[in-house]
Order: sequence, then C-alpha cells, then structure tokens
Amino acid sequence: MVDSPKAAILQQLRSTPGLCGEAIGRRTGLSTTEVAAHIRELRALGYHISTDAGGYRLQASPDTPFPWEFGPREALIHHYAELDSTMTTARRLAREGCPPFSVVIAEQQTRGRGRLDRRWRSDPGGLYFTVVLRPEITPTLAARVNLYTCLVLVETLAEKLGIAAAVKWPNDILVDNRKLAGMLAEMETDADRLKFINIGLGVNVNNDPSKLEPRALSLRALLGRRVNRRALLAAFLDRLQAGFAEAAGEGVISRWKTCSATLHRRVEIVTRTGVVRGRAVDMDPTGALVVQRDDGATVAVTHGDCFHQAGGPP
Ligand code: BTN
Repeated sequence: MVDSPKAAILQQLRSTPGLCGEAIGRRTGLSTTEVAAHIRELRALGYHISTDAGGYRLQASPDTPFPWEFGPREALIHHYAELDSTMTTARRLAREGCPPFSVVIAEQQTRGRGRLDRRWRSDPGGLYFTVVLRPEITPTLAARVNLYTCLVLVETLAEKLGIAAAVKWPNDILVDNRKLAGMLAEMETDADRLKFINIGLGVNVNNDPSKLEPRALSLRALLGRRVNRRALLAAFLDRLQAGFAEAAGEGVISRWKTCSATLHRRVEIVTRTGVVRGRAVDMDPTGALVVQRDDGATVAVTHGDCFHQAGGPP
C-alpha cells in the first residue's frame, strides 16, 4: 500500500532528523511546495516541527489518532474533530458497505450515546470511537462479539499499561469499581444473517469525567500521567482483529468469567419488564447472566442495568 503524503513525510522526519524540504520531496515523490504545505498542516494539527539550518526536525507528535498514524490501516480510519455521535456516522458507513474494521473516531461528540438511551459525555482527551464488524455469524451469537470486544479492551489495558480492569455485566469496564470505559453495540440483520455489528467504545483517557460523575475514572488519574490515545487504539485494533476468528466462539464465555466484576456478587438488574435481585452465579452460552434469586430459582437475564449490591463476593 502506498503511504499517504503525511504518513510518508512523518516517516522521513522520524527516521532522519534534519532533512530539508527538497530531500523529503526526493524521498517521498512530493514537490517541495507540497512538502511545505503538508508540514504547515501538520503543525496546525499539533505536530511540533522545528526548522534550522539542517532542515526540519519533528520535536513532538500529538496523541491524536489521525489516520496517517495507523500504517496499513490508514484507509479504514475516519477521524473527525467533532461529531454528534460516532455511532451515527459508523451506521451510515456500514450501510454504504464500508469494509470490516473501519473505525470512526471523534475528538468530541455533541450527542454521545450511552446504553439505555443515556448520554455519554465526550469531552476532549477521551477516546471515542465505533468499529464496524462483519462477523459471519447468526444474530443469536452477536452478544458474544460484544463480550469479546470488552475482553480485548481489558487485555489491551493489561498488556500495554499494566492495568487490571474488570467487566461489569454486560459491558462496563471498571477499575477499583469505577468506570473507565463503556461500550455500546448496534447491529443490523437481514433475515438470519448479521449485516454488521458496530461497537462503540468510550474510554476515559486524558479527560476528567470524575467532576460530574464521581464513579468514573480516567487512565490519566489512575496512572498519574497522560496516556497516548493513538497507541492505545492501535494496540486495541490489532488485538481485536488478530483474535476475531474466535469472537463468537464458546471460549469467549469462559474468558469473560475470568475477568468479570459481576460474577458471584449480589446484583440488582433493572430490565424493561422488572427488577431481578439475587446472586450472579454464571453466564450462559448466549451471554445472558444467570442470577439465582433469593427464592432459589435461577433466571437468565439478557439485558438491563446491573447494580452491584453491597457485600461483594461471598
Ligand atoms: C455506556 O456505558 O453507556 C456506553 C457508552 C458508549 C460510548 C461510546 S463513545 C463512542 C461511541 N459513540 C457514542 O455515541 N457512544 C459510543
């Protein structure tokens, strides 16, 4: 795949500090005027590029997930300064037939959507994106893909940042019982075929959600330093794609159980039809949470707002 002009220029600046415009042009096939124009644009986007007698030097790059920072994924990355919701744009792209693993990212969302018709605050510094997935499965297995995506985020956080996160059913990512990330899924089907499943993730990275939501946590608050959003997203996407053949497999259920914050706890789940109270004892093969009520009966809960009750695991 041919690099875009910005990817090619950044590659030169990163490998050889102190190249003049003509040299960058020769190495990238761009004219000196084009090089100068792209460097102007990169500076305006937050790249710190100095000039001296030796030429251009890249002093610092922003952590913004610009498409040209994603190597061979570049054409799949749709980055916006602001959207109403990445879910809306991703749905349009999916309906227009975009390839799987296309990603819509917004620096800010004016109408970020949470589960159960809630709003998702989307201030600058967070990571807000929707990835379009096209697994060849029946819609009945879609819940496993949601669980798989949560697992991928938990595993990415552990591998890249050494963070031990847990999943509150169905798909909140928690650290120390505080919410680090939330996930929203939206799918479209055609008879018995899944056309696409779009997974939206909002991750509190360098934003501070705790002022308005005390039970929310950001990676910056947790680690005491800023986290590079671009690197985090790239690692997440690589892991998501690498294991995707198993995304709807039964193994997802057992993997989920190992990082569940909900299993073995007393829970109260508010569903569309009522409230289920009891102890979360298992997850069934479809991804439903199996709750043992106080009268001893077990129920499989497929959706709802889950509240962990005081007392914790037995
Ligand atoms: C929740 O916990 O309620 C789910 C939150 C999901 C938020 C993300 S941010 C990116 C994507 N676009 C949206 O409008 N929502 C999801």
